[in-house]
Amino acid sequence: MNKVREPGAEAPLPLASLAAQPADALLGLIALYRADKRPDKIDLGVGVFRNDHGQTPVMRAVKAAEAQLIETQTSKSYLGAEGDALYTDLLARIVFGDQDAGARMTGVQTPGGTGALRLGAELLARANPDAQLWLGAPTWPNHAPIFAEAGLKTRNHRFYDQGSAGIDFAAMLDDLDQARAGDVLLLHGCCHNPTGASLSPEQWAAIADLCETRGLIPFIDLAYQGLGDGLSDDAAATRMIFSRLPTAIIAYSCDKNFGLYRERVGALWVQSANSAITERIRMNMLSLARSLWSMPPDHGAAVVRTILEQSALRADWEAELTAMRTRLNDLRQLVAKAHPRLSAIAHQRGMFAMLPLAPAAVAALRDDHAIYMAGNGRINIAGLRAETVPLFARALRPHLD
Ligand code: LMR
Repeated sequence: MNKVREPGAEAPLPLASLAAQPADALLGLIALYRADKRPDKIDLGVGVFRNDHGQTPVMRAVKAAEAQLIETQTSKSYLGAEGDALYTDLLARIVFGDQDAGARMTGVQTPGGTGALRLGAELLARANPDAQLWLGAPTWPNHAPIFAEAGLKTRNHRFYDQGSAGIDFAAMLDDLDQARAGDVLLLHGCCHNPTGASLSPEQWAAIADLCETRGLIPFIDLAYQGLGDGLSDDAAATRMIFSRLPTAIIAYSCDKNFGLYRERVGALWVQSANSAITERIRMNMLSLARSLWSMPPDHGAAVVRTILEQSALRADWEAELTAMRTRLNDLRQLVAKAHPRLSAIAHQRGMFAMLPLAPAAVAALRDDHAIYMAGNGRINIAGLRAETVPLFARALRPHLD
């Protein structure tokens, strides 16, 4: 007969041994900002686009596509682990243009860019558990945990030099000299998070050379297409890498360029040397997805598919995206003029820039001026407005001079 466990007796599973975990610092800023009652507070924390009224609106084309879906959708039945195949195909044309790797390329829908990164990480860990994942410093703070939780060893290479507010490419190549064949190099396709610094076409070409000669796998994270220089320009580096390297991976997010954040819309594409390998890659992607989330959520991807299927909706989406990009780049010019030490922000791209601030200065700006930013000095440019830039610059000045 089974022994009856006394209430309060030690549980059979040692969950009590779990270590405490720090709350996510970036997401924690959302709650801190909300709790602040000061009327002139400025939120430069989490990366969401904001318009000139400080709002993160649902894009016009998204609203229209949602209305159509409500009218026309006849079923919520399962689609399968690959998600909406037409969504993935139409989105691939935005990412890769006319470049077509045919049967050497396969893609699936994922829950956001994070889901795509995690699925790619699991695939790599299954294929080669000894592979090391190389990350530039600094990078999005969730990159390392995503790959580490999948079982891959992560290594850092130097990338951004705060002093010159630019990329230290020589240091990057120097560090990558330690990379081994089969290692994976994570690259931000455009609009680097957190620095906004872009590799030049020549530097991208040198990275392609490096991957080719050293047998490294490029893994591109493309989460801001259209918010830097335009849809095609922002995909140029990705297209070049996929045309030069037989094996390449890309994790894509529609969070920012379709404003679909909470709907979790992304995709993972993997290209390999031949169609037989790609077929096995696809089988593994599907079996991993099945065990991770079974099937991705549909709504956001159905919205993107509806927009990309209809030329009027697509044109309106592109027009609104262009206005969002223009707003970001105009704000960049204003911030860059505010202090000589911020001048590099004018030619950086995307939502983010890193201010040369110590953590104490970041805390002081929050406490004294209700200005919220990530602890490393990263600001979300879209959180500013033309009227708030002078106020922001005044608060910043004592910490920069
Ligand atoms: C950011 O970097 O702020 C965004 O990508 C949101 C997130 O998930 O961290």
